[in-house]
Amino acid sequence: MLRYYSWAVGEKALGLTPGGEAVYRAVGRFVRKKNQGRGGAFIAALPVVKKVMAVAPVNATIMDVGTGWFHNDAFLLYLAGRGKHRIVLFDVADKALLQYIKNYLEDLRQYSGLLSREIDVDETEIRERLDELLRLPTRSMIYKRCNFELCITRNTNSPFLPDKSIDCMVSNCTLVHIRPEILVPELKSLKSILKDDGFMYHMLGQDDHWAFHDPSVPWPSFNYLRYSERVWRMLFDTRLEYHNRIVKPEWIDIFRRCGLEVVEYNAHIDEQSRNAVKALPSIHERFARYEEDDLAIIHGYVLLRKADTDCGRGAAGKAIKTETIALPALQQRYASRALQPEHA
Ligand SMILES: C[S@@+](CC[C@H](N)C(=O)[O-])C[C@H]1O[C@@H](n2cnc3c(N)ncnc32)[C@H](O)[C@@H]1O
Repeated sequence: MLRYYSWAVGEKALGLTPGGEAVYRAVGRFVRKKNQGRGGAFIAALPVVKKVMAVAPVNATIMDVGTGWFHNDAFLLYLAGRGKHRIVLFDVADKALLQYIKNYLEDLRQYSGLLSREIDVDETEIRERLDELLRLPTRSMIYKRCNFELCITRNTNSPFLPDKSIDCMVSNCTLVHIRPEILVPELKSLKSILKDDGFMYHMLGQDDHWAFHDPSVPWPSFNYLRYSERVWRMLFDTRLEYHNRIVKPEWIDIFRRCGLEVVEYNAHIDEQSRNAVKALPSIHERFARYEEDDLAIIHGYVLLRKADTDCGRGAAGKAIKTETIALPALQQRYASRALQPEHA
């Protein structure tokens, strides 16, 4: 696990060096230019999009929280919703580039058959929509065609859009990258912006993200469960990359404190992930009191609604619908790099 630790220490040192963060981001942009958005990145967003299509009104206004480099959820929602949604692309930094977006759209095109089966839209229609977007020469033209609005702000501890203006909020591996002291006020702000009968659906990537840097660490890893706060902060709390290592019972408590009712907490768990937890040499006391299945979650998918409205009233103490779901074959193929494009 040499790379696992040296990567963290290297990032920590670079983050503390004047100008280090700018260098890191510039190198990242250069290195990822050709590949950011490719390789089946959309797979993790599919369950999010399917949930939205099942529960959101047609013509809904949707916010993609932490929209990132190529608007993973948003473009899938555009295709699945046949362009009928208005989609707010919210992030704390404008990370997207035309090149990343085009990489992603080309990738979606390569998997258009699979996508058609997953989101139930005719393959020809998917390809036509993607071809049209791929021909557009600027980001703003693509956004206009898709009815996307960019919303970049770091002022997230008070509502930054009108109250009750959004029907549905989604995120894909975003909340796990937010520090707890920012997360709680931000969730309260998002709750104010959400309509009373609206909902949120968040994908929480709960496996150890530092392990992605070390091919010798078998996936999925939960190595972070070993460390005290002090060690975690010293080694892994960097300015360049951050994972809050919050686990399921803690998430449920945070959502409740923010006035959000947890309607469903679906979790990808399998024997491999349980074995990864069992194989840890130790588990820190912060985590040791939780059930093994609370710790062995690779991805959590959480459906939330406002707790203090007519829709959510009476929710306190109600059982949360929790489903333990094996990693779908598609995601397994993606994780093991066995997912092959269908079209050249
Ligand atoms: C791992 S990336 C996921 C990006 C995108 N959702 C995707 O699936 O490709 C995490 C994203 O969260 C964003 N982020 C970090 N802190 C945030 C915050 N406080 N509020 C909203 N987004 C945040 C980052 O800028 C980044 O784009």
